[in-house]
Amino acid sequence: MKLLFTNIKELLQVREASVEKLSGKEMKELPTIKNAWLLIEDGNISDFGKMDNLSEINADETINAEGKIVLPTWCDSHTHIVYAGNREQEFVDRINGLSYEEIANRGGGILNSAKTLQETPEEEVYRQSAERLEEVMSLGTGAVEIKSGYGLTKEGELKMLRVIKRLKENYQIPIKATFLGAHALPKEYDGNTSAYIDKVINEILPEVARQKLAEFIDIFCEQGYFTVEDTNRLLSAAKEYGMKPKIHVNQFHAIGGIQAGVEHDALSVDHLEVMRPEDIESLKGTATMPVALPTCSLYLSIPYTPARAILDGGLPLALATDFNPGSTPSGNMNLVVSLACIKMRMTPEEAINAATINGAYAMELSETHGSISKGKKANFILTKKIPSYAFLPYAFGTNSIESVYINGEKVK
Ligand code: NIG
Ligand code: FE
Repeated sequence: MKLLFTNIKELLQVREASVEKLSGKEMKELPTIKNAWLLIEDGNISDFGKMDNLSEINADETINAEGKIVLPTWCDSHTHIVYAGNREQEFVDRINGLSYEEIANRGGGILNSAKTLQETPEEEVYRQSAERLEEVMSLGTGAVEIKSGYGLTKEGELKMLRVIKRLKENYQIPIKATFLGAHALPKEYDGNTSAYIDKVINEILPEVARQKLAEFIDIFCEQGYFTVEDTNRLLSAAKEYGMKPKIHVNQFHAIGGIQAGVEHDALSVDHLEVMRPEDIESLKGTATMPVALPTCSLYLSIPYTPARAILDGGLPLALATDFNPGSTPSGNMNLVVSLACIKMRMTPEEAINAATINGAYAMELSETHGSISKGKKANFILTKKIPSYAFLPYAFGTNSIESVYINGEKVK
């Protein structure tokens, strides 16, 4: 099956397939072909070029993309898409003055979602999660990471991971699973964090590994949740099973989680709303991708990740949604890209790079996704007729997406 797009106003993020990730300096450029054609063969990008150089191609279908832009689909490297129910009441409680922390301390927050998850049949959790996955695909997401972490018991965590596995089997977009058993402390372990970590390490993790249910390991390293010591213990144990860390750090307090992540060769360290100069320093020269989650900052009214300090320090940066029922009930990467520009002073070039190739790296997917490169998967967005690519983040409430293609097939 050959699909040819012609007269593309701008083909964005055209790179050699070997590019894995971009540093702050490299992110300033967004390589683009103006007035381009793009050929898709059997689900892969097979060729592209300038219209002037288009020779006769026998395509099964030709699509005239005049006035429209083509770019890789968004790579959302941090989500909690699998959950049950919602937490609108906590939203209202926060409007009425309670903080996220106060709500969590009253047994709301993550524990509230854990209770609902445990009570909801697996089939129903799958149904709700699949609906969210389809929604984000229609918003241009073409690769996604999904965490467990609302089970907090062996049964609950395995149930979530099985739902992720089923989503992987039933949808064309690549999905990476992360085991986040250490997301919050179940009530019965109050005051005994290390006993819960023991359980995660000795009872849940081995079963997750045995059933091959997760590629990555995560922990919420934060005051009131899990310590740096808990983090070190869990990450060391997960390493034995070949599970790389992608961890929640520096959301509310800087307690040394970044350093722990770097020490354990974390693939990514995520959130980073609170960053000390030494946190930026310790990421330099490492393979760890910093990940910012601006829609979480928007929703919780907390600081935005200091992207300028990170990028101007030469570090790379990826952008993701954090889609979850408590701190970010939105999986819209278009809004993430807009907020990165509006609130974090990233340029459109930096934000698009962060949401595509660097996001792919943060899921170990940059060999196949994240750029328009020969041989990569044909996962791309076709925009409506728009004046320029800066219009995407600029028109922050507008849906500029006309179609989304996954493996060369139109899903929207
Ligand atoms: O990434 N920070 C920890 N976990 C989630 C929020 C989870 C929740 O409130 O349900 C996050 O923001
Ligand atoms: Fe998260």
